[in-house]
Amino acid sequence: MYTQAIDLPQGTKDEAARGPRSLKEAEYEAEFDARIARGDFIEPKDWMPEAYRRTLIRQISQHAHSEIVGMLPEGNWITRAPTLKRKAILLAKVQDEGGHGLYLYAAAETLGVSRDEMTEALLSGKAKYSTIFNYPTLTWADIGAIGWLVDGAAIMNQIPLCRCSYGPYARAMIRICKEESFHQRQGYDLLLTMMRGTDEQRALVQDAVNRWWWPSLMMFGPHDSESMHSGDSIKWGIKRISNDDLRQKFVDATVPQAKVLGVTLPDPDLKWNEQRGHWDFGKIDWDEFWAVVNGHGQCNRDRLAARVKAWEDGAWVREAAVAYAAKQAQRERRAA
Ligand SMILES: [Fe+2]
Ligand SMILES: [Fe+2]
Repeated sequence: MYTQAIDLPQGTKDEAARGPRSLKEAEYEAEFDARIARGDFIEPKDWMPEAYRRTLIRQISQHAHSEIVGMLPEGNWITRAPTLKRKAILLAKVQDEGGHGLYLYAAAETLGVSRDEMTEALLSGKAKYSTIFNYPTLTWADIGAIGWLVDGAAIMNQIPLCRCSYGPYARAMIRICKEESFHQRQGYDLLLTMMRGTDEQRALVQDAVNRWWWPSLMMFGPHDSESMHSGDSIKWGIKRISNDDLRQKFVDATVPQAKVLGVTLPDPDLKWNEQRGHWDFGKIDWDEFWAVVNGHGQCNRDRLAARVKAWEDGAWVREAAVAYAAKQAQRERRAA
């Protein structure tokens, strides 16, 4: 998973504060703009505007954090999966998310930020990650709902990123999207299986869909009119489709799937609009969204505490790796 356009003020110096640009810099910038216009990739050693670099660092690191924190709600169910097959699928999915986090941290490192800086930002609560992972997984049906809706929303968000202008990010997204597609399908398959089961199972599925539907729509971030960095991101070829357009695509794709599944999406205003050729849907509770962004979701504290504990428990591994590397270097020096 999951980018989310949580465009927040950075509190870092802006372009104006950096003083006038040199002639050379203006030339580089013109070349950069021309490359973006041609649809070329920008690579790590290429010149890029500072704001482009900062935007990418913010977005890619938020995305990486989301993958890593996103392992927690589902990891919670690995030991309680109902069958060996479902356990193997869930294990593979959660491991994929860990892998996505690692590719993305590596992609962000090519922009000059260190893994330690990113980790510190996450653990101190400074960095954001997708709001969706601050909701609890209460029943086994939640695992299906996450795959279907949360990974489904992530795919909508992430497919356009395979054509993003920054090469390392775009290339990481190609593999990630293939894996997300498996995640979405296993979730849908899980829910279909439960829907063919008992009345109790069907009730669990409906309850999970009721709880995950609105938070999934929030994954696309604020309305375009309130999304601070969207304009620049679109100009730079980082973002290809706006938050509201992606959200609409997701709703349009999901409504027919809900019908096949036999569940009701919890929105009385959901209806087909012949004129627009899209599904109309109700108002998102933005107060809830911002409360979760600002740390007041049901699980914000638990999620961060789990990451801090993992970091502290893993300290001995990092220390051992550093000691081993030092020993190897010493041996090589002696041999030389
Ligand atoms: Fe992922
Ligand atoms: Fe996923």
